[in-house]
Amino acid sequence: MTLAAIEPFYALEILARAQMLEAEGRDICHLELGEPGGAPAPAVLEAVRGCLGRPMGYTSAKGLPALRERLAGYYGERHGAEVDPGRILITMGSSSGFILTFLSAFAPGARIAVTRPGYPAYLNILASLNMSVAEIPLSAANGWKPSVADIEAAYEKMPFEGFLLASPANPTGAVLDKEELAAIIACCDRLGVRFISDEIYHGLNYAGGDVSALETSADHVVINSFSKYYCMTGWRIGWLVMPEDVVRRTEMMAQSLFISASSVSQHAALAALDQRVVYDQRRDDYAQNRLLLADGLKRLGFASAEPADGAFYAYVDAAPFTNDTMDFCVRLLNEAGVAATPGADFDRVNGSRYMRFSYAGTRENIEEALERMERFLRSGA
Ligand SMILES: Cc1ncc(COP(=O)(O)O)c(C=O)c1O
Repeated sequence: MTLAAIEPFYALEILARAQMLEAEGRDICHLELGEPGGAPAPAVLEAVRGCLGRPMGYTSAKGLPALRERLAGYYGERHGAEVDPGRILITMGSSSGFILTFLSAFAPGARIAVTRPGYPAYLNILASLNMSVAEIPLSAANGWKPSVADIEAAYEKMPFEGFLLASPANPTGAVLDKEELAAIIACCDRLGVRFISDEIYHGLNYAGGDVSALETSADHVVINSFSKYYCMTGWRIGWLVMPEDVVRRTEMMAQSLFISASSVSQHAALAALDQRVVYDQRRDDYAQNRLLLADGLKRLGFASAEPADGAFYAYVDAAPFTNDTMDFCVRLLNEAGVAATPGADFDRVNGSRYMRFSYAGTRENIEEALERMERFLRSGA
């Protein structure tokens, strides 16, 4: 990939346009960003108060030992997986985890496979690092999940050294069960491909439990973050679980690239890990939003609007209304005051018929957005 392959992150472009309209006095329903609005749990704020007034210096590049120990315990408790805290590195959100992974676990210029549709930053980060990409196309008919045959076919066409997959996924919300994930990891092992499991939407699963790649293997990379389930997007805090062979190199790169993650955010994250009761309640609120939004979108006439199992997104087919969702999203924002993300963000080939709505906001926001969209569509837009 060349630098010319870097494209805008359209969700953020729509947000910027929405904020401009808001500055002009317009009221906007925000369904474009995957950003939970809930405040941190009281215990998190308490932990932050405990940081104020004392020196908050760098931590070690791998992060606070107490946080890494606690995360290792989390894998034991929730996934029955024994993880050496020495393999855990605290990062500035999963975003810096991707950079560290691509640079430390692969040779320069290596090719990484990603799904299409998928999270847009993957392509832009790989292009920024001058690495190559293989895309594995997914379809609504297969529940937006890659099969072993899909991976083998993509590899046959263009071999790759890594495969990065999120489950639950953005933008589709698709979730792999344990057997499906284990089959994909076994396939990667057969092909000599390093698997990178993006587990950032863990905790946001409406159909069953989360499955971590660490339940199956210690040889692959796991990336996670406090942004979504723990509602801490702006705190920029996440973590990596690296295979033994690359931990030390990742640590050395982290020392020079980032020095350390924010020490205040690390203390806050440590407190957040023990507040699942608070965050599970938020997940239950999203669960209601999920059904409300799916029903509303189906009623309006969007296709493929069945609710997905995880994350907090509806990725729907807007073909009944348009074959250019970029234009449609801009008009929906300008004329109806509803911000949603065009599918081109997630799929540069077929995305123009899809769009993504986030239900991480409030129920009222979704109800209002559906009413506005109904008027917009009725007006013949
Ligand atoms: C699949 C996926 N991975 C990673 C990220 C990055 O999140 P953060 O850097 O806040 O951890 C996002 C954000 O939306 C995402 O959807």
